Amino acid sequence: MLIQFKRDLDPIQFLSLAPQHATIHHAVAEALKKGFEKNWYILGPDLKKFEDEYAKFNNVQHCVGTGNGYDALVIALRACNIGPGDEVILPAHTYVATWHAVSRCGATIVPVEPDPASLQIDVTRVEENITKKTKVLLPVHLYGHPCDMTSLEAIARRHSLTIIEDNAQAHGARWNGKTTGSFGLMNATSFYPTKNLGALGDGGAITTNKTELAEFAKKYRNYGFGKKNYCDVEGINSRLDELQAAVLSVKLTHLEKWNQERRDLANQYLERLRGVGDIQLPVSQKEALPVYHLFIIRSSKREKLREYLQSGQIETMIHYPIPPHLQKSYASLNLGKKGFKLTEQIAESCLSLPLWPGMTATQVDFVCDRIAGFFSR
Ligand SMILES: Cc1ncc(COP(=O)(O)O)c(C=O)c1O
Repeated sequence: MLIQFKRDLDPIQFLSLAPQHATIHHAVAEALKKGFEKNWYILGPDLKKFEDEYAKFNNVQHCVGTGNGYDALVIALRACNIGPGDEVILPAHTYVATWHAVSRCGATIVPVEPDPASLQIDVTRVEENITKKTKVLLPVHLYGHPCDMTSLEAIARRHSLTIIEDNAQAHGARWNGKTTGSFGLMNATSFYPTKNLGALGDGGAITTNKTELAEFAKKYRNYGFGKKNYCDVEGINSRLDELQAAVLSVKLTHLEKWNQERRDLANQYLERLRGVGDIQLPVSQKEALPVYHLFIIRSSKREKLREYLQSGQIETMIHYPIPPHLQKSYASLNLGKKGFKLTEQIAESCLSLPLWPGMTATQVDFVCDRIAGFFSR
């Protein structure tokens, strides 16, 4: 008992995959062994199996595995014929990959500030950004919290726009009972190892109900080959490989349970941290079932709090310290400092606390005690 308690109070990593991996160790080893021995490593039966399973999980017709989440976004945009002259509305507050995928296609980025409570794209500010050139709404379910899809779907209908979801951080999240990654015409996701459903390397996928778009994506990820040796479009090389697919199949069967664990831990944080110092806690809308890819708090004392936690052997992270519009890669867009005030405020105040399936309630209590200690000094 004493040993277990001590282990709980060892340094707290920001993320540990060890408890998850311990529960699937045998199944993953078996899948890798079979994959190793089967002599077929690219575009084979394990990819097909995972694609079918992931499509079913999202309640969509098709899933197309890709090399990573960025490529999945690029392919989804290309499939919808998005290119130079087209405008894409996306969140100002997101991971930079979402922006890079849009600019890679030559389309124009039109960022919209987040809602100050949910931190997701502010649906009340989308329509003022729509022009004749707007083609796509690209919501990102950031941190595992679904965007307000009811409002976004209504806006898309009113203005004949296509929705493409970036679901990289929200595998299994739901809005009004419907899985994120099933709302858009095409949806992109990432299986980067730290994601809720993570591969043992890079990986990504597109989900869609449109057969012809899925067919396009299958060609595009494989140099544009339709029939063997016949290149229909100038595609890229971005295939989810057999070994990653086999591992993802194993992990997918645990995803709902792991997401529930994340919610339970998040609820504990929410209860313990309410009213502590000047902390702003994550807010879920009533239609949302979040999956807490990350647990983000905000505080004006973020830097000092982070140092204090680090000195108590608690590791934290910042998602993200530099917003996309302030990255050098977008200097030419001149979106300028203070252009997106709320996004900049979030970047300056947000702090990601440790949270992963298998983290113990004792560990969450320890983090909360330390945070309370900081504010009561
Ligand atoms: C919101 C978001 N979009 C896109 C990506 C890109 O995914 P990847 O790193 O697999 O290319 C990521 C993750 O890294 C992400 O968090």
